[in-house]
Amino acid sequence: THRCAKALQLTLAVIKPDAVAHPVILEALHQRILENNFIIVRSKDLVWRRQDSEKFYSEHAGRFFYQRLVEFMSSGPMRAYVLAREDAITHWRELMGPTKVFRARYTSPLTIRAQYGLTDTRNTTHGSDSVESAQREISFFFPDFSQETWMEREELGFR
Ligand code: TYD
Ligand code: MG
Repeated sequence: THRCAKALQLTLAVIKPDAVAHPVILEALHQRILENNFIIVRSKDLVWRRQDSEKFYSEHAGRFFYQRLVEFMSSGPMRAYVLAREDAITHWRELMGPTKVFRARYTSPLTIRAQYGLTDTRNTTHGSDSVESAQREISFFFPDFSQETWMEREELGFR
């Protein structure tokens, strides 16, 4: 039996160290996830070593903000979620808002980055930007989680 007219999609959402450092913000973001009808498939708290940070963001190596980004992302605890929903990737990115916090505050003041972000680097959340990056990033954070198996069981209504 199919519970949804449209297929579920998985995405990776990360609450970055600036937000995890503040318990009230962390809780608000957790509520925001639930209010928006995401299924929390997996979640964990973790701290990156510098080399994890460099690897995850290797596509940005050489850009002006890379060193700052790498340092920030390995500066303290984060929370990672595998989220499921229809159009999970786009929906989570819309909730996050634009990358740059000051642009977010101007153009989309109700988004997470506008409300909680501190700077362009310390911008509160990460979200995968495509199906391919969601697959890669979920494996990066949750190497033991089989996305294929989860999706198959979901389609069969085994939840
Ligand atoms: P990017 O993938 O462009 O943004 P997004 O997180 O919205 O997918 O950049 C990755 C991270 O790099 C971004 O979340 C914060 C950092 N960053 C900066 O610190 N300064 C910048 O000017 C940009 C573009 C990104
Ligand atoms: Mg990105």
